[in-house]
Order: sequence, then structure tokens, then C-alpha cells
Amino acid sequence: MVGVPLIFNLRFAVDPLLQRKEGSDFVKVAQVEEITEVPQSFRFTVHQIDGWYESDPTMEAWISRDENGNIFALSPVCKHLGCTVNWNGSGDYPDQYFCPCHGAHYTKDGEALAIAPAPLDQYEVKVDNGWVYLGGIHANERV
Ligand code: FES
Repeated sequence: MVGVPLIFNLRFAVDPLLQRKEGSDFVKVAQVEEITEVPQSFRFTVHQIDGWYESDPTMEAWISRDENGNIFALSPVCKHLGCTVNWNGSGDYPDQYFCPCHGAHYTKDGEALAIAPAPLDQYEVKVDNGWVYLGGIHANERV
């Protein structure tokens, strides 16, 4: 009986030390010179700690430059029901992101044009010493 509360108290004392700090981790994903105005898919792994569980899931980002040369990265997760979008994924919607599940499509900035209720999310982007680093995912601020 006495051991159960002790275990819970110990968990709450140690658990915060193991938590990933939001927005503080950036991952090196691509060389700056690779990034063009045409979106390209890049895959990378992130180290995550969720409570006592650690994992290294593979993530994907569509990275491109805007008309001013600024680099931005979008999440491929469709905002309808979570399938994966592809750039130029449909001949009916050239130069757009397309979701094959139910036909949502998005502009290069991620603006939802049909089906999906919201724009594609964005990654935090940092450019340093010739490399593009990606951080956390947040709501789209481009549209
Ligand atoms: S999940 Fe993408 S259109 Fe439905």
C-alpha cells in the first residue's frame, strides 16, 4: 500500500527531466543549395521522448523557396483526415499539393483549396552554415 504512492511521486519528480523541450530541438535536414522554388520532399528522423517511451520516427517535410528566396517547409499531413499529400500528385491540379485519399488540394504555401478545413502545417525553419534545420510543427502562418 505504501509503495504505490511512492512510485507515483517518484515518477512525477523524475519525468520532467526526461521530457523533450518543445521548440528547442532542430534537426539538420538538407543543404541550402538543394532547395529550389519547386517543393521537394525530405525525410529525416527525430528523437522523441514521450513519458518513459523513447523513439526515432521518420518525418517528412516539403521544402521550397518563396518568390523572395526565403526557405519554408510544410508538413505532408493532409488537414482533412491525415493522409499524405504530394506535390504535383494529380494532373488535374498542376503545381499544387494533392491528397489521394479524398482529393484535397493546396497551394504551394499550403492554403487549402478544397475538402480540407485548414492549410498544411509549417515546420520551424533555421538556416545555419549552409544547412536547413527543421524544428517543431505549428499552424501555417503563410496563408
Ligand atoms: S485525408 Fe486528405 S483529402 Fe481526406
